[in-house]
Amino acid sequence: MKAIQIADNVFRIAANIGDKDLFEGIWPIPDGVSINSYLVKGEKTVLIDLVKDWDNALEQVNGQLADAGTSLGGIDYLIINHMEPDHTGWLADMKKQNPELKIYCSKKSVPLIKAFYKIEDNVFPVGSGDSLDIGGGKTLIFEDAPNVHWPETMVTYEKSTGVLFSCDAFGSFGRVEEHVFDDELTAEEAEFYDKETLRYYANIVSTFSSFVLKAIDKVSGLDIKVIAPSHGILWRKNPSKIIEDYRRLASYNTNPEEDEITFIWSSMYGNTEKLVEPIIRAVEEEGVKINVHRVPQTHVSFALADAWKSAGLIFGMPTYEYRMFPPMAYVLDIFDRSHVMNRKIFRFGSFGWSGGAQKQFQELTVNLKWECIEPVEWQGAADEETIARAVKQAKALARSIKKS
Ligand code: FEO
Repeated sequence: MKAIQIADNVFRIAANIGDKDLFEGIWPIPDGVSINSYLVKGEKTVLIDLVKDWDNALEQVNGQLADAGTSLGGIDYLIINHMEPDHTGWLADMKKQNPELKIYCSKKSVPLIKAFYKIEDNVFPVGSGDSLDIGGGKTLIFEDAPNVHWPETMVTYEKSTGVLFSCDAFGSFGRVEEHVFDDELTAEEAEFYDKETLRYYANIVSTFSSFVLKAIDKVSGLDIKVIAPSHGILWRKNPSKIIEDYRRLASYNTNPEEDEITFIWSSMYGNTEKLVEPIIRAVEEEGVKINVHRVPQTHVSFALADAWKSAGLIFGMPTYEYRMFPPMAYVLDIFDRSHVMNRKIFRFGSFGWSGGAQKQFQELTVNLKWECIEPVEWQGAADEETIARAVKQAKALARSIKKS
């Protein structure tokens, strides 16, 4: 991959990460992820955000800096928008290689730089409205964007070119190959990044949705020509598209507007599984789209992405040792952390000696303000009357979320 000039003396310096690791140690990235840094050249040379030495990232970055006529040792100022190690992991090594490096970051990043990388000298805290004139007509303006994605996060705006370096905000999963800008994507690529934006948002950012809306309000006064996030493609033809996508995704926290159902199920010996096909058919007969995930066979990352946009959720799981089947307890813990709130819910499942799943289900979801219809539980194998009762409930749920 080559360095790509995105505006006058502004370059994208990016690393594509493959699929062999989990992002944040949790989330699968079957189509990889990009980590984007940006080089801004004035009289001084600035790098905005860094990488972790992960899957050849450093080699990719070094090669592109050379394309752009510099090197990590030639950087005067490093802007750290966000301290998470996917953007700072190589910081201690860079500082050793470039001891005069000046680091600009938010006030809250200062103790983190010390804690993570033991660096205290030449660290300059900045806050909303502060700016850095680097000569050559280039001025960087900083804006705090707390909790998008960590409390210390900020974004940086270059005034002469109108480029917003937004770090995690407006990002997505997925490698970025030769088509880097929104206006270069094929229809298939655009669809791919839409899906990976949803999954990235649901997995990484969803917990902080109220802060996303505040950050969008903050940057909406800027004359943005290009949105340059630290993951995914860049937006220059229609930056407002990704801003509005993020505004909509943030609103799903409490108001999922898509009249879909996400159905997550698990089964031990087939007694809960027996109801899966009748439930899917029942929802489809009501003309409602249903997204189906079996756990633990499918990673919660994908179920969470579908659940984030769905107004209705159905859970099918048996009781296991007086509580929920453990992989489903994990799903609900993730949904709680991600604030999948205000959904309409139906739950069903079998039990052996005794129930218990429903009690734990209610306890684990108490903070999510879910509107639950009457569950269906049974001992052993479901008879026809039980299946009919569950089908009736699934249909009722489907009708309750239908907009037309
Ligand atoms: Fe891409 Fe929150 O780091």
